[in-house]
Amino acid sequence: MTMHSTAPETATAITIRRLWSSERDLFRSHFDRLDPASRAMRFGAAVHDSFLDIYARSAFAGGNMVFGAFVDGELLGVGEVKLLANSLPIRAEAAFSVVPEWQDKGVGDALFARIIAALQNRGVSSVLLWCRSSNHRMRHLADKHNAELNFTGSEETHGEVRLPWPMPSSIIEEVYGEAICYTNTLWRSNWLKRNVA
Ligand SMILES: CC(C)(COP(=O)(O)OP(=O)(O)OC[C@H]1O[C@@H](n2cnc3c(N)ncnc32)[C@H](O)[C@@H]1OP(=O)(O)O)[C@@H](O)C(=O)NCCC(=O)NCCS
Repeated sequence: MTMHSTAPETATAITIRRLWSSERDLFRSHFDRLDPASRAMRFGAAVHDSFLDIYARSAFAGGNMVFGAFVDGELLGVGEVKLLANSLPIRAEAAFSVVPEWQDKGVGDALFARIIAALQNRGVSSVLLWCRSSNHRMRHLADKHNAELNFTGSEETHGEVRLPWPMPSSIIEEVYGEAICYTNTLWRSNWLKRNVA
């Protein structure tokens, strides 16, 4: 098994921020950049474009949250959170996808860390993950973030990360991360250069 490590210069360039419902088209276009294998890994089976159109419309509904990973303003990965209805304590489900040319460079790990912090800050008790049993990369990431992994059959693995109460570190992770990303966006759009410099 080949293990790849994250290059620090790549990892530090990744910024994570929430995507909002007004960015639904950007979110939808992310799935067009996934190759068939990644799409199938993400959704558990091959999915048609028309399914993704409908899916993208529902992704921001209710208390669902979507996070995007950016490098130089380009959306390279997405982490999605769905709050599970009628569950007390509150539980959520998360799913991740990264464009093929950026896989194995730390993007999924950065999304995972932000989602955990965001859910911890909202009092969510645990986050569930589903992936194919053959998805060693996702299973490694889940394990790295302390998920309890269970095989639900030969095809699928189910993981659950139990979350502690909000901590100063989780609040800083979320607030600082969003602020950095927002500042970068303003800088790239020249707003800061024109108004501060
Ligand atoms: C799964 C996915 C989201 C992970 O994101 P990513 O950006 O590629 O992952 P990262 O680079 O952050 O981390 C990958 C980790 O897996 C490890 N890894 C890579 N190949 C591996 C393998 N064959 N076996 C075990 N670990 C492996 C890497 O070393 C890295 O671990 P490290 O951070 O401890 O070094 C991404 O690969 C993807 O989009 N895959 C297709 C869609 C999918 O499978 N989604 C998951 C279902 S919800």
